[in-house]
Amino acid sequence: MVNNMNSLVSDAESFYSHNYALWEGIGYHFKTPDTYLHEFKLRFPDVKISHRLLNRGLNFANNKQRPIHRWTSYLEGFSESFVYDIIEQFGLSSDHRILDPFAGSGTVNVAAMMKGVDSVGIEINPTIFRVLLAKTSWDANPREIQHQYDAMNFSKKASTEPPAFLETERQFQPEILENILRIKERVGLVDNPRLRCYFELAFASILLPSSNLRRSPSIGYDKKKSKNLYPKLPFQLFEEKVKEIISDLRFVQTKVEKQGKSISFCEDSKAFALPEDIAVDAVITSPPYLNSFDYVGNYKLEIGWMEDAASTKDLSKLRDRMVLCDNVSRSMMKSYAEQTPLLSIDWLDYIIAASKPRMRERIGIRRKDYPILLRKYFEDIHMVLSNMYESINDGARVAWVVGDSLILDVYVPTDLITMMIAQRIGYRPTGIEIDRTRRSGIRRTFALRESILYFQKEA
Ligand SMILES: C[S@@+](CC[C@H](N)C(=O)[O-])C[C@H]1O[C@@H](n2cnc3c(N)ncnc32)[C@H](O)[C@@H]1O
Repeated sequence: MVNNMNSLVSDAESFYSHNYALWEGIGYHFKTPDTYLHEFKLRFPDVKISHRLLNRGLNFANNKQRPIHRWTSYLEGFSESFVYDIIEQFGLSSDHRILDPFAGSGTVNVAAMMKGVDSVGIEINPTIFRVLLAKTSWDANPREIQHQYDAMNFSKKASTEPPAFLETERQFQPEILENILRIKERVGLVDNPRLRCYFELAFASILLPSSNLRRSPSIGYDKKKSKNLYPKLPFQLFEEKVKEIISDLRFVQTKVEKQGKSISFCEDSKAFALPEDIAVDAVITSPPYLNSFDYVGNYKLEIGWMEDAASTKDLSKLRDRMVLCDNVSRSMMKSYAEQTPLLSIDWLDYIIAASKPRMRERIGIRRKDYPILLRKYFEDIHMVLSNMYESINDGARVAWVVGDSLILDVYVPTDLITMMIAQRIGYRPTGIEIDRTRRSGIRRTFALRESILYFQKEA
């Protein structure tokens, strides 16, 4: 046991060794990833910490060729094969139901359906929720979709308007814009909502590739790309996507013998209580990470065109309801700062204290309320975990994928702190698998990790 622990600590040391220079540079207030790991092991000796052996990849790139998953490319999603691994590991079958409180584009739900396991997904973003709904609706007749598509007449000039609050003229070349508007108008004329959802998804999927923008992962203008765009591109992409949808629906309807059922809610997982008749046996999920990734800002093109927001104010309201990212409104944070803190965790207090001098030293920091942002992120996670605890069955097992962070050069062991919060709520932490390493967006040399946390509601 001791030997095993020593080797894990030395593994972690070598894993991070090339970052020593950074730690030295930052000085006294920088606690290292392996210091935290070591302390965690002392505090939680029963929690098995290991490196993921199968290494089947957590990220969405693996889904790009997979039926149904490939309908959209949600960079923040994880892989189907990961969900299959957990379904097997947890011994889940058609008698069980999985919950994903951060369902996103539905990787967990779709994978569960493929394996004949029931599932429930909660997603707050109404546009991503539409994607989730379409991807988990497998019973439409592919021939009817084809007929609807064949009946669409794109030759008539569009009378619909683009979203007023987006920089549409900069984002789309004029002829491309006209064709996008024509497609939008024809999609809106599909009166059967069960069929319309696929066309809406197809429409949303063509916006980015037809625009002068790229998302990698944040959205921005791409001058090189705009030279290669041509007016008919939206029609071509739309047709390809509709064909893909038809082909994948045929595939699942003929090849997936026993499909799981999926239910979804467009709700806030911090507050939403599942209906009592929905029993949950396992949770497989991945929350937003503690970083600057702005889910709303980066998907505003789709949100605006799908009419799920009519102004930047609407976008801001949605962002403020979500698990925190560092683009939340200052007014929301101001009123939040006046509330009594919900959580007291020594590590978090230390990180907040360490980040304060960094805020003064660093030039060009976008905002001055990082200490409160840090606290709010973990309080949001606390709320979701507590809420989930009330909704799931005794004995339910949880697999929670999260990355750690570097905020103002202060290292934040987001995974380990999340586990501590789970334990406070009443879950029993059982294991941590360290998966892939990522690069910090701010300091490319700094290796961050991604972990799968395993914990369980005691029976
Ligand atoms: C890491 S992504 C999950 C992606 C998903 N695993 C997939 O494969 O598509 C996190 C998701 O949580 C959603 N989210 C953020 N805050 C939420 C909240 N309070 N309630 C429900 N969903 C939320 C975001 O919109 C985002 O889609």
